[in-house]
Order: sequence, then C-alpha cells, then structure tokens
Amino acid sequence: MMHSRIPAPFALSASALLLSVVLSALAASSSAFQDTARGKQLFEKRCTGCHSLDRNKEGPRLGGVYGRTAGTAPDFHYSDALRNAHFTWDEQRLDQWLTDTQALVDDNNMDFHVPNAEERSEIIRYLKMLSTPQSASR
Ligand code: HEC
Repeated sequence: MMHSRIPAPFALSASALLLSVVLSALAASSSAFQDTARGKQLFEKRCTGCHSLDRNKEGPRLGGVYGRTAGTAPDFHYSDALRNAHFTWDEQRLDQWLTDTQALVDDNNMDFHVPNAEERSEIIRYLKMLSTPQSASR
C-alpha cells in the first residue's frame, strides 16, 4: 500500500506541467487574436465602405494584398498611376499609402487616409495576418 502513493507527486507535477503548457498556449493564442481583432475592427470601420477582402468594390479586393504587387487585383480598373507603380505591398509601403496615398503614388484614385499611426499599424498587421495565415499561430 505504501508504495502505491509514490507516483502521486510525479502525477501531480506532470499534470501541473501540462496545465501550464496549456495555459501559456491559450494566452499566446488569445494575444495573437487580440492583436488582429483591433485591426479587423478598424478595417471594418474605415475601409469596407470601399473595400472588401474577397471582391472588388469601389476599391480593389484587399484579401492577400500584403505581399501582392500594387495594381494587380484581377478585373479591377486601377488608375494608370497605381497600375504602373510596380512595387510590392509591405509594411512600409502600406504605412506610406495610408498616411498619404498621393505622396506614395501621385495621381492615384484612393481619396482616403488614416492620420493615426497606431491605427495604421493595427490595420496593416491585420492585412498581413490575412496574407500569412501561419503567422497567426506563432
Ligand atoms: C473612399 C473609398 C476608399 C476608402 C475608404 C479606402 N480605399 Fe483603398 N482604395 C480605393 C481605391 C479607389 C483604390 C484604387 C486606387 C487606384 O487605382 O489608384 C484603392 C486602393 C487601395 C490599395 C492598393 C491595392 C492594390 O491592389 O494595389 C490598398 C492597399 C488600399 N486601398 C488600402 C485601403 C485601406 C487599408 C483602407 C482603410 C484604412 C482603404 N484602402 C480605404 C478606395 C478607398
């Protein structure tokens, strides 16, 4: 009988370890979720009047825009300026674009900007996460 108790501390510490692993995984995934939740909210508030993620509206579809070459969403009628810009959308370009589209690409057709730097970076992080789904689980 005595030695049937011996494994107990091992069992306890193993389950405590498991619990802490589960808890930290939960914490990590919920903070990743929160990170893009605010960007999603801002995107829906500021951008979806003209953009959708999966279809062209007044503006081109933005799902997958991070890492895409500017002016290349299929079937969207771009300004000549953006169609001929030939750069790839990354954090820096998106930040410049949302700060002042005309300063980045003179004579383009998007008449909108986001003056708040923190909001820009939240929106960009959201767009980036959509283009690289595996980053959401990191
Ligand atoms: C008033 C309408 C309007 C709003 C609001 C708007 N956009 Fe646009 N957006 C456009 C138009 C029109 C274009 C195409 C510009 C061109 O062809 O020169 C565009 C183009 C873009 C592009 C380039 C895409 C590509 O395929 O090269 C990005 C990126 C973009 N918008 C992001 C945003 C984001 C993010 C928001 C919200 C913060 C936003 N836009 C809000 C109208 C809008």
